[in-house]
Amino acid sequence: MRVLVFDSGLGGLTVFRPVAEMLPQAELIYVADNAAFPYGRWPERKLLKRLSGLFADLVATLRPDMAVIACNTASTIALEPLRQSLPIPLVGTVPAVKVAAEASRSRMFSVLATPGTVQRVYTHELIERFAPDCRVRLVGARGLAGIAEAALRGVEISPDHVRSIIEPAFEEEEGKRTDAIVLACTHYPLLLPQLKEAAPWPVNFIDPAEAIARQAERVAARIAIGAPPQQAPEFYFTADTDPERRMAAVLKPWGFGAPKLFPGWDKAQFDKAGIRG
Ligand code: DGL
Repeated sequence: MRVLVFDSGLGGLTVFRPVAEMLPQAELIYVADNAAFPYGRWPERKLLKRLSGLFADLVATLRPDMAVIACNTASTIALEPLRQSLPIPLVGTVPAVKVAAEASRSRMFSVLATPGTVQRVYTHELIERFAPDCRVRLVGARGLAGIAEAALRGVEISPDHVRSIIEPAFEEEEGKRTDAIVLACTHYPLLLPQLKEAAPWPVNFIDPAEAIARQAERVAARIAIGAPPQQAPEFYFTADTDPERRMAAVLKPWGFGAPKLFPGWDKAQFDKAGIRG
């Protein structure tokens, strides 16, 4: 069984890890659409168009039996259309509003996400449906996914910079305050130590990765497993932005072999869409 795990960049690795633990019998393929990173700034229609074309190509070329879209910004716009158009089951990643509503005692929680995810109708509907009695603050965290990637590459991160981005997620009113923050971008759990350090008071940071992996396990149980994998998980990116091959070292602890280019979706198409990172 081949399982594709997808994100705009390296954030999906936070989901990849529990998926790999729960599906040891699967051949795993990770795809980072780094040519288009960050997705958080893309207009919805353009992002949906890119994802529809790219996923059709990924499924035809890499032949996964199922895919995990380990990206909130992509799932909240493209999960349903991709389910209609693709011949394989998909597991999505959407803001864990229900979990936060169940966990919050103060009935005040925040959703920390990309600027794209906080605007989605999908996200607003989740809040109306699962947290009607909560005060929910949506915080579009500009640049935080890029900071998470930098941290993964070993760059020193300024706590003040992180604090200035996450501060709006902390609210205090009439003796009550925010007690939970949904990490609604798969990049953010990569920064958990920095987020905890920058928080003005302790909160429950909610990372949905385990729950997504459990859902992937349920979906995988319906697919014939086949022979166990003989090779290390594969890693593809859509733009070769790492000529020094430093990525290989970053990815090694995750068990990947040398990263490979998935051709046809590189910088040129990114520029044609009129978006620049
Ligand atoms: N990891 C992605 C998410 O879960 C988004 C990062 C980005 O491309 O802006 O939303």
